[in-house]
Amino acid sequence: MDLYEYQAKEMFAEHGVATQLGVVVTEAGAAREAAEQIGGMVVVKAQVKTGGRGKAGGVKLADDPADAEVKAEGILGLDIKGHVVGKVLVVAASDIAEEYYVSFLVDRANRNFLCMASVEGGMDIEEVAATKPEALAKVAIDPLAGVDRAKADEIVALAAFPADIADQVAELLVQLWDVFVSEDATLVEVNPLVKTPDGAILALDGKVTLDDNADFRHPGHADLADLQATDPLELAAAKKGLNYVKLSGEVGIIGNGAGLVMSTLDVVAYAGEEFGGVKPANFLDIGGGASAEVMADGLEIILGDPEVKAVFVNVFGGITSCDAVAAGIISAFSILADRGETPNKPLVVRLDGNNADVGRTILLEAEHDLIEMVDTMDDAARRVAQLAAQGA
Ligand SMILES: Nc1ncnc2c1ncn2[C@@H]1O[C@H](COP(=O)(O)OP(=O)(O)OP(=O)(O)O)[C@@H](O)[C@H]1O
Ligand SMILES: [Mg+2]
Repeated sequence: MDLYEYQAKEMFAEHGVATQLGVVVTEAGAAREAAEQIGGMVVVKAQVKTGGRGKAGGVKLADDPADAEVKAEGILGLDIKGHVVGKVLVVAASDIAEEYYVSFLVDRANRNFLCMASVEGGMDIEEVAATKPEALAKVAIDPLAGVDRAKADEIVALAAFPADIADQVAELLVQLWDVFVSEDATLVEVNPLVKTPDGAILALDGKVTLDDNADFRHPGHADLADLQATDPLELAAAKKGLNYVKLSGEVGIIGNGAGLVMSTLDVVAYAGEEFGGVKPANFLDIGGGASAEVMADGLEIILGDPEVKAVFVNVFGGITSCDAVAAGIISAFSILADRGETPNKPLVVRLDGNNADVGRTILLEAEHDLIEMVDTMDDAARRVAQLAAQGA
């Protein structure tokens, strides 16, 4: 789970990291009140879980409370890379002498942790990394040793932080590492880390990604989830324990195994080009079990998506054989009927693998008018794309 900037900075503060908190508001009038409360110049910052807010016009300096209201008015409702701004952070404006960059992250390629640090921080660290890689220090962190003061000093020296703030930055790195480990984060990033004219160091922005697999260790993390900003179908799927991701297309997808589902998305997108560009509407992996109950839950979520015009069930029978899956599909329809749902969108089913013949026979004999069977994955993808294009 990604945190909002204000949540990340609250977490920083709990771990002793020097930062500025401010006030989060959802209405322009409240931004004015917050600015009055804070006093002086403020910055109004879009709270969205994506980068590049400043460049998109989502970070604005305001001279006084009236100006804060105007700036908030302009930022609330703004669409930043598909994220509509629903709340802004109003925070005291800081005088900035210099902007730096620091982060800790999981370095998957090297199966390790990594610290990145640069004295050329601010908005475009990606550009620094691409055009001036020597200005971005990358230091591997031994997971067992972690970041103690000596390691932090090493990072500070490699990134060539100025001597007058070296101690403060080293101390902050130790604190940030504490955030990273004790909160089970996969990313902790500060951009910019600023030096104020009087020589203080401050985390002016914060990005934190928490590892959801460690949620059981952090009961408090559940409170950080923004249920209103979560897609309602994804929320419903999560409640049913389904591995579902909403996408923007018209073809509902159900498969067993993440790899198979990923390749199903590819073949459907490819086949869809022929039919006016129809695309997958979701990712849904019902896993190895693929019981009737899980199939019904999956179908219910997918059919609840008004964008979906046709559904592709792509199953490779393994430990759960195709006859069990076929029986599951049939009983899924009656489970849905019991729940008062009447499926009315065509279902293209492709069964392969263990007991595929028996599975197909079960579906054929059921003579269900919404179910159509196609033998191969490519042909099934073409057929479902065609049906989705007709239904659209
Ligand atoms: N409290 C503040 N006082 C003064 N200037 C600020 C303050 N907060 C941000 N800024 C300025 O705005 C710039 C952009 O802010 P910030 O880093 O929070 O957003 P961003 O980098 O555009 O967003 P993201 O990190 O999501 O890409 C900073 O580099 C800094 O120059
Ligand atoms: Mg930033």
